[in-house]
Amino acid sequence: MKLKRVLKWSASVILLALAVWFFIAYWMSTNECDRKTAAHNPMKAILHCEYGGPEVLKVEEVEKPVPNDNQLLVKVRAASVNPLDLTIRGPLLLRPLFGLRKPKDTRLGVDYAGTVEAVGKNVTQFKPGDEVFGGRDGALAEYVCVLADRAVVLKPANMTFEQAAAVPVAAITALQGLRDKGKIQAGQKVLVNGASGGVGTFAVQIAKSFGTEVTGVCSTRNVDLVRSIGADHVIDYTKEDFTKTDQRYDLIFDLVGNHSFSERRRILNPSGICVMAGIGGAGWHDGMAMRLAGELNAYVASRFVSQKFVAYIATLTKADLTILADLMQSGKVIPVIDRTYKLSEVSAALGYLEEGHARGKVVITVEQNNKT
Ligand SMILES: NC(=O)c1ccc[n+]([C@@H]2O[C@H](COP(=O)([O-])OP(=O)(O)OC[C@H]3O[C@@H](n4cnc5c(N)ncnc54)[C@H](OP(=O)(O)O)[C@@H]3O)[C@@H](O)[C@H]2O)c1
Repeated sequence: MKLKRVLKWSASVILLALAVWFFIAYWMSTNECDRKTAAHNPMKAILHCEYGGPEVLKVEEVEKPVPNDNQLLVKVRAASVNPLDLTIRGPLLLRPLFGLRKPKDTRLGVDYAGTVEAVGKNVTQFKPGDEVFGGRDGALAEYVCVLADRAVVLKPANMTFEQAAAVPVAAITALQGLRDKGKIQAGQKVLVNGASGGVGTFAVQIAKSFGTEVTGVCSTRNVDLVRSIGADHVIDYTKEDFTKTDQRYDLIFDLVGNHSFSERRRILNPSGICVMAGIGGAGWHDGMAMRLAGELNAYVASRFVSQKFVAYIATLTKADLTILADLMQSGKVIPVIDRTYKLSEVSAALGYLEEGHARGKVVITVEQNNKT
């Protein structure tokens, strides 16, 4: 009886301590917007001081970054938005990481392309005037500082800044999913579900560059687009269910996850692989929680069958950006750009992306301010 009382009392004390800790941590959760002072050498950047939808994004003046000895200062000419940028909504599960009450990191964007304005003294691979593209946090701004040995490479001369800015996150997701997780091989039959979006339009072209026979799944309005980027076959999901045909595939690159484990297994060859890369277009839509649960179930269930169901998070690397630059240089991959917005219109750009029906990439052009 005494032990029971001690245990009950201890549990209450722990719960109370946790509640107090949470309350203090919640109210102490601040960000740079609360401490903002006038910038000495200002540049424009997109900030989100609060959690919320695209309407919370603001163009603000912040301090222009100064490169250290190992960095480049890049004048951003174009950037692009990704589903990842919608974490501005502050999903509850991620808040312990991102900031409980307010986002710790108020800057937005990853993909950029631009011109090198200055280099640190240890940088030998780049020089001022070089046109580059790559990925780094806070890319939705007039300038970014990037470490020369990270994910930044020279832009192919035949690509515009807008095209190059469309590449990093989406194309690397497609490349790593098909090559590293899907073990893609020439001659294979590959199906891309979600072929018309930011990642899908790269996946179709990259799969073709590996010498495979590609089937793209999209809706009626995107059939011509998906065919035009090289798909050998196109399935209109509004008219036909791709899991109910007689076709068998060696690799399914699935960006939607709207079919069950057994439905997809039925159309995979015995040693086939299903790469579960996403759960549909950007934003949170009806049925996504079920899709997420379905993907978890498929991951576990596939341990007991010959086909593999794998998931992953893409990583930006210089090596893979170099491969993509070569594919663009040779004309094997041409970024598909749906809409272009100005930096001051990022809220509208992200709002459009969030609808989940982008056709290729949504790109931001950064107006040139001649003051440096
Ligand atoms: N694993 C990773 O590291 C990683 C990295 C980046 C992205 N992702 C994920 O990959 C997914 C796609 O990203 P994204 O950038 O390509 O998004 P996106 O550009 O917003 O994708 C939009 C496309 O999805 C298509 N779509 C929506 N529902 C569909 C369905 N039922 N069947 C076929 N297509 C459908 C839309 O076509 P319609 O308009 O015709 O419906 C539209 O063209 C997202 O879930 C994203 O979170 C994962």
